[in-house]
Amino acid sequence: MGGTTRPAVLDLLRDRTRAAHERAEETLPLLDPSLDAARYRAILAGFWGFHAVLEPRVAAVAELRDLGLDPAERRKLPRLEHDLRTLGADPTRVTVADAVPEVEGVAAALGCMYVLEGATLGGRIISRQLAARGIRPDAGGAFFAGYGDETGEMWKSFSAAIGAYAEAHPESTARIVEAADETFTLLERWLARAQNAGPASS
Ligand code: HEM
Repeated sequence: MGGTTRPAVLDLLRDRTRAAHERAEETLPLLDPSLDAARYRAILAGFWGFHAVLEPRVAAVAELRDLGLDPAERRKLPRLEHDLRTLGADPTRVTVADAVPEVEGVAAALGCMYVLEGATLGGRIISRQLAARGIRPDAGGAFFAGYGDETGEMWKSFSAAIGAYAEAHPESTARIVEAADETFTLLERWLARAQNAGPASS
C-alpha cells in the first residue's frame, strides 16, 4: 500500500491477522486457473451468507457515523445479490452463516470492518483475474470489484477513522484486534463449509 500515514493500529491488525489472511487465501481458489463457474458461485454464496448477518450488525452501531463512517455507503450485500442473480442463483435460497461476530460496540464494529473493508484491497487483484476470464463487474464480478476506482479512497477514509478512534481510545485496541481476528476466523471457516456444500442454484 505504501504511504506514510498508515495508523499504528492497522500495522497491529495486519500483523495479528496475517495467519488468518493466509488461510483465507488458501481456502479461496479465486486466483486458481481451474476455478469453475459452480465453485465461484459457491464462494459468492458463502460471502453472501456471512454478510447477510454481519452487515446489519455493523450498521446498527450508530457511533460509526460519529467517526465519519457510513455503513450504508459501504454495503456489499447488494453487489453480492446482483452477482448471484446474474449467475443464476437465488440469494433468498442461500443459507446464512450460523456463527458470526456479535458486534457489541464501536471497537468490535471497527475490527469487523477492518476485515470486510480490507477484502476490497485483495479484491483489486482478484477482480483483474476474474475479468480476464470474462467475469467482469457487470457479469457476476461486482463484489470483488469493490468500490472500483474509489477503492483506494474508501480504504484511506476507513484507515483515517480507525486510526483516529484507536488513538483517542487506546484501551480499545485489544477489542478491535480481537474482533478482527474473530471475524477472519469465522468467515474463513464458513467459506470452507459453503464451498463444500456447493452452490445454491434456483
Ligand atoms: C484469494 C483471496 C485473497 C487474496 C489474493 C488477497 C490478497 C490481498 C492483497 C494483495 C492485499 C494487500 C493489498 C494492498 O496492500 O494494497 C490484501 C489486503 C487485505 N486483505 Fe486480502 N486477499 C484475499 C482474500 C481476503 C479475504 C477473504 C479477506 C477478508 C474477508 C481479506 C482481507 C484483507 C485485509 C483486511 C487486507 C488489509 C491488510 C492491511 O493492509 O492491513 N483478504 N489482500
